Amino acid sequence: MGAEAPTIPLLTPYKMGKFDLSHRIVLAPLTRQRSYGNVPQPHAILYYSQRTSKGGLLISEATGVSDTAQGYPETPGIWTKEQVEAWKPIVDAVHAKGGIFFCQIWHVGRVSNRDFQPNGQAPISSADKPLTPQLPSNGTDVAQFTPPRRLSTEEIPQVVNDFRLAARNAIEAGFDGVEIHGAHGYLIDQFMKDQVNDRTDQYGGSLENRCRFALEIVEAVANEIGADKVGIRLSPFADYMESGDSNPEALGIYMADSLNKYGIVYCHMVEPRMKTLGEKCECPQSLLPMRKAFRGTFLVAGGYDREEGNNAISENRADLVAYGRLFLANPDLLKRFELNAPLNKYNRDTFYALDPVVGYTDYPFLEDTA
Ligand SMILES: Cc1cc2nc3c(=O)[nH]c(=O)nc-3n(C[C@H](O)[C@H](O)[C@H](O)COP(=O)(O)O)c2cc1C
Repeated sequence: MGAEAPTIPLLTPYKMGKFDLSHRIVLAPLTRQRSYGNVPQPHAILYYSQRTSKGGLLISEATGVSDTAQGYPETPGIWTKEQVEAWKPIVDAVHAKGGIFFCQIWHVGRVSNRDFQPNGQAPISSADKPLTPQLPSNGTDVAQFTPPRRLSTEEIPQVVNDFRLAARNAIEAGFDGVEIHGAHGYLIDQFMKDQVNDRTDQYGGSLENRCRFALEIVEAVANEIGADKVGIRLSPFADYMESGDSNPEALGIYMADSLNKYGIVYCHMVEPRMKTLGEKCECPQSLLPMRKAFRGTFLVAGGYDREEGNNAISENRADLVAYGRLFLANPDLLKRFELNAPLNKYNRDTFYALDPVVGYTDYPFLEDTA
C-alpha cells in the first residue's frame, strides 16, 4: 500500500469463515465464452492470475454442472475428468499469487436450445413455458430457445446430485469452494420465481415449495464439501429471462433466513437496481432486509464503483463487494482503487468475443499506461 494513501473501507481485511481476506474487493462471476468445447483453456491462466491479489476472493465464470447445463457457446464445465484437469493449472495460478478461488456452478435450465443438449433433446426446466427469442448479450444474432421439458418430481434428485458432483469436482480441481448460481433466470431461479414455476408438486406453489430445489442443492453441496466452502448467488429482484417474482422481497428474505440452517459461508445478492443485465436504474428496494436476515458473510454486486463500495462497507450494508465490468476491464482494480487512479473503460463488443487475448487479457495495467 502506498505510504500516503489513507486506508479506504474496501481495503480493510475481512475474515470470511476460515478464509482470511486482505480486502473487500471481489471478482464477480463473469462468463467470457472462451472455453472451447466446454473445456477451460490455458489462456484463462493469465486472465484469472491478472485479477488475483494476495488475500483477494475471485469467483469463476459460470461453469456447467452436467451435459444438460449449457446454453451458450464455449462456456466451461466441470462434469468431466478432462474439464477438472483443465481447471487445475488455472486454480494453481490463482493460488500461487495468494488468491482464494470459488467456482460458480451453473445450470441454465430453459435458457438453452437443442444444439446445446445431448441427443438434441429439449432443455429441462421447472415448467414447460417457452422463452421468447431474444437478442443474446453478445448482440450478434437472435438466440432461439427450444421449449423446455418440465422435470418430473422423480428426476429432480438427479439434478441436485449433478450439483453435488460438480462441487466435489471443483474441490478436486483445487478450488477453495463453490458458489451455487441461483440468480439471473437460470434453472434454480426458474424454480424460485413464480413467473416461471407453475408446478403443483412439492417443488411448486408456495414460496417454501419453490425454494425447495435451491435449498436441497445447498444441503447436498454443503454435505459433500463442507458448508464452510459453499456460497450462493441470488437475484430475487431481477427478471432476466422472463424469470421475475411477484414478491421478490419475501423471496429474498425467505432464502436468506433459510440459508442460515445450513451454515454456508456466504450469500451473494445482486442489487435490485440491476433490472436488466448491464444497466442500473433508480429503485426504492434494497438488500438491507436480506443483509439483516443472513448470519454469514454478505456479498453485494451490481453497479458498484469505488465510492459506493466504500459506503456499503462503512455503513455495514455488506461485508464484501463484487465488481463485474470494472474488474473485467481493470485487472489491477485493487491498485487503482487504492490510488484512486482512473479506470480503463470496458468494451462490451468483446465481452463474449471468443478470442483468447482480445478483450480478455489485453486490458492495460496502470504501469502500462503511465
Ligand atoms: C460479461 C459478463 C458476464 C457475466 N457472467 C456472469 C456469470 O457467469 N454469472 C453470474 O452470476 N453473473 C454474471 N454476470 C453478472 C455480473 O457478475 C455482475 O453481477 C454484473 O455485471 C453487475 O455488476 P457490475 O455492475 O459490477 O458489472 C456477467 C456480467 C457481464 C458483464
